[in-house]
Amino acid sequence: MIDHGNFLKKTPGRQDRRHNKARIVFAVLAIVVAHVFVLLAILLAQPLWSMSKTGLALAQDNQETKQKRVYTNDDWPFNQPRQSPSSSAGREGETNPSLTTDGGGKIAPYVPTPMSVVEKMLEITGVTAKDVVYDLGSGDGRVVVLAAQKYGAKSVGVELDRGLARESTEKVQELKLESLVTIIEGDLLKTDLKPATVVTVYLLPSANEQLRPILEKDLASGTRVVAHDISIPGWKATQEETIQVDGVTHFIYLYRIPDAFRR
Ligand SMILES: C[S@@+](CC[C@H](N)C(=O)[O-])C[C@H]1O[C@@H](n2cnc3c(N)ncnc32)[C@H](O)[C@@H]1O
Repeated sequence: MIDHGNFLKKTPGRQDRRHNKARIVFAVLAIVVAHVFVLLAILLAQPLWSMSKTGLALAQDNQETKQKRVYTNDDWPFNQPRQSPSSSAGREGETNPSLTTDGGGKIAPYVPTPMSVVEKMLEITGVTAKDVVYDLGSGDGRVVVLAAQKYGAKSVGVELDRGLARESTEKVQELKLESLVTIIEGDLLKTDLKPATVVTVYLLPSANEQLRPILEKDLASGTRVVAHDISIPGWKATQEETIQVDGVTHFIYLYRIPDAFRR
């Protein structure tokens, strides 16, 4: 006896054939889509890899440029205008004519050192109450005031700009620091630096160049010279530090007399 019921179940009907076809089409489509994905991944991987390599190289290059940066007279921050004067004591930019008669003059514009950088400069120099700190081109007096306030050091600010010299003198009086701090309204290139045991500078490269022979002649052995952002050309620093302020890298160079220039 033939079991027609079973026979009918096992033989694929038209509907089953359609289902099978659909499955085959679906499988082919899935394979095609998978291949397209693999192909896209291969195509994208190449540029992404080279982009990440370029990014890395750029970052490294940036870092190296920052470290090796050499400032010139036209460089930041000296081409930036200063902020408005904080005191009415005198107009900034005004110079006593008697101080500039024989060719002397302003060898750097006024750009204040951020206070966190001033703190770091004095800290790495190891200033103590036994020191005599000279800030050459002392601006608003922030370096000499901090040296006296924080370390009890005697300090002398030399500033050619009449307005700034008056402003800083007033600040010293207000803070009752006259016994420790002296502001000289004068030309730093004509100032006797022999009493200094610490000298701080934030001047143009050409100014540091002019100053170097004076420092070499006047400063006693053991004196420390600390320069913000602009190194002393031809000198060898015993320590170099960087400090970030508002996303800007500030450089600090510490020199010891006579190691800085005696080979
Ligand atoms: C970049 S500012 C530095 C101010 C301060 N030392 C500081 O770090 O905040 C340079 C200063 O040097 C002063 N200066 C320029 N030429 C000078 C000179 N021949 N004698 C004395 N001061 C001078 C400028 O008036 C200015 O205040």
